[in-house]
Amino acid sequence: MEQTTEGAAKIRVGEGTFYNPKMRKLRDISVVFLKALGMRNTRLLDATAATGVRGIRYALEARIRDGVLLDINPAAYRNARANVRLNGLKLRVLGKSLQEFANTSKESFDIIDLDPFGTPVPLVHDALKLCKRHAVLMVTATDTATLCGAEAAACLRNYGSVPVHNEFCHEAGVRILLSFVAREAAQFGFGIEPLLSISDMHYMRLFLRLEQGADKAHESVRCSGFGAYCSNCHNFVYEAGIEHRADAKCSYCGKHMQFFGPLWLGKLHDRQLLGRMLHLCDGNDADAEKLLELAREELDTPFFYSVPKATSYLGLGSVSPARVLATLSKRHRATKTHFDESGIKTDAGIGAVIDAVRRVSKE
Ligand SMILES: C[S@@+](CC[C@H](N)C(=O)[O-])C[C@H]1O[C@@H](n2cnc3c(N)ncnc32)[C@H](O)[C@@H]1O
Ligand SMILES: [Zn+2]
Repeated sequence: MEQTTEGAAKIRVGEGTFYNPKMRKLRDISVVFLKALGMRNTRLLDATAATGVRGIRYALEARIRDGVLLDINPAAYRNARANVRLNGLKLRVLGKSLQEFANTSKESFDIIDLDPFGTPVPLVHDALKLCKRHAVLMVTATDTATLCGAEAAACLRNYGSVPVHNEFCHEAGVRILLSFVAREAAQFGFGIEPLLSISDMHYMRLFLRLEQGADKAHESVRCSGFGAYCSNCHNFVYEAGIEHRADAKCSYCGKHMQFFGPLWLGKLHDRQLLGRMLHLCDGNDADAEKLLELAREELDTPFFYSVPKATSYLGLGSVSPARVLATLSKRHRATKTHFDESGIKTDAGIGAVIDAVRRVSKE
């Protein structure tokens, strides 16, 4: 069996066990996240371990000595157990499903990582049964076609939300996932605080802190609301609250708008934590650092305007998003976004964005 090295971990990938070297960037980010939080001497559950690479890296690099690795697949379980030994660690490895473990064990954890194939929906409820107060929960979703609205019926079935399939569908998908986790967590008396929420390559990933208390749970459920999108001029509006408004006309072009949600309308990241994470990056993963930089700089306001969509609405040739951003920034708050390299987040409203695009196009 061939041995590879990832971070501080030595990993052998057994037959029938999943290991994707391209997901290293996300594992690097997760390690830096735990280091920045100072999660030493806490208890970890890597609930979907496969080779065990995450749990092993967290233990070695973020110095988390106590933990459990689970995998439902017997081949993966044996592989993870061998890798834990290979790295000289004392983590426990169990060949069980998260559901079985959550419903038979009395243990609780400070850190839980969910990294399943496809949707995390069947796992979140059971993971929450195992969370300590103030636990950190990390959740990966790779069912992005569902969350981004290419499979709208599946999104309604799995997440209880109507998705939107447009230029900001990845951000809307991340916010649908957050809203789902917030509603699940509220059943256990937890509110959620998103510390980092990203969409990259073929996955979405949430890094959350749980806050115990009925008021926290209530507050985080109230952070969800609905959006409306105009597919003519690409305007959007959003409103927190669980009351769904039946219809809306676009304030810019007067066309009918399409509703979507419920989805999370609160903040996506903790900027200070991102600063500490960037400080801890060792320069080995430029891609991960670029993603974290963009996340740190982007405004908290939901959604963004796509510069190519604006030029196509106006019937103009392409213009530089950087120049539109510079023009808009003279009078308004505006930033890039990690969700789309030609997108601009701003609280200026569509009229100001359209004016800026026109001005840059004339120059
Ligand atoms: C995408 S892989 C995990 C990859 C790994 N975290 C990494 O970074 O390389 C998903 C793993 O979850 C396991 N799995 C799926 N459903 C599970 C469940 N209900 N409980 C525990 N493990 C599960 C699968 O057997 C598979 O090994
Ligand atoms: Zn419109």
